[in-house]
Amino acid sequence: MTMDAAAGMISIAGRTVPRMGFGAMQLRGAAGPETALPVLRRAIELGVRVIDTAWFYGDDVNRHIAEALQPYSADLVLATKAGASTASNSQPLCPDYSPDQMRAGNDRDRTVLGLEAVPLTHLRWTGEEDPYDGMTFDSAFDTMLAMQAEGRIEYVGLSNVTLAQLRRAHARGPVASVSNMFSFGNQSDLPTLEFCTANGIPYLPFGALGYGATDTPAGKPGMTGVQARLAWLLDCSPVTVLIPGTSSVEHLEANIAAGV
Ligand SMILES: NC(=O)c1ccc[n+]([C@@H]2O[C@H](COP(=O)([O-])OP(=O)(O)OC[C@H]3O[C@@H](n4cnc5c(N)ncnc54)[C@H](OP(=O)(O)O)[C@@H]3O)[C@@H](O)[C@H]2O)c1
Repeated sequence: MTMDAAAGMISIAGRTVPRMGFGAMQLRGAAGPETALPVLRRAIELGVRVIDTAWFYGDDVNRHIAEALQPYSADLVLATKAGASTASNSQPLCPDYSPDQMRAGNDRDRTVLGLEAVPLTHLRWTGEEDPYDGMTFDSAFDTMLAMQAEGRIEYVGLSNVTLAQLRRAHARGPVASVSNMFSFGNQSDLPTLEFCTANGIPYLPFGALGYGATDTPAGKPGMTGVQARLAWLLDCSPVTVLIPGTSSVEHLEANIAAGV
């Protein structure tokens, strides 16, 4: 069941990898190492090479990744996020685009993941409000480019961005990827996906399973609803890179089978 060209390969963050990746957020909190490590190792065994994470999911998530997967394979794209802070794992996430905070988050990523430079980091903007707390999207993108120049991150992506923000950033420097909410049941970000498709920018839809939505595309015979939603996302553009999240090996295997 290992993935190959059938799932489609894509160039992202300087690596050529299968388009079916994995989102690590479900491994936070209650999912201890006995749950998280088998999921991560099985993902790699099955060919996953894009793992979406964030220091602000709690250090335990990045710690599980480091413990399960070090030494990292050269083609692994660990994709993190910048632009938020949290007082503790149990506290809500606050947008924070101050250069000091963004560098502090990057330090947490690099320390816990054991990396000199993070392969890919998404500037996670929170919504429409720009500027937010005195910081503009453009100034936060400047900080990302500065962190890249400092050797802290290899490639800069964007997350939760509007098409207007993406266009502005794209005009200034290469945008390595975009990660916005998109699924069969919620296609409001279609114009951004179309821009990414036209410009060859990998697009990582989060919430791919629809967050409880029940509408499901017609899949191949024998596919579950979840698999049909994932297959639909792979089919809707050659630039989608899926990061479905799960804390279950069984669900992971089912998700990857949707792309084989
Ligand atoms: N950039 C951003 O702002 C942002 C925001 C949200 C998420 N993300 C990223 O996107 C990734 C995915 O997002 P998400 O986890 O919020 O949503 P998701 O991938 O759409 O759905 C995850 C949920 O679906 C369940 N699930 C997964 N596979 C299943 C299967 N085969 N059958 C039945 N249920 C299944 C999981 O439960 P089980 O654990 O029980 O399988 C979990 O409850 C996250 O891990 C995170 O890395 C990014």
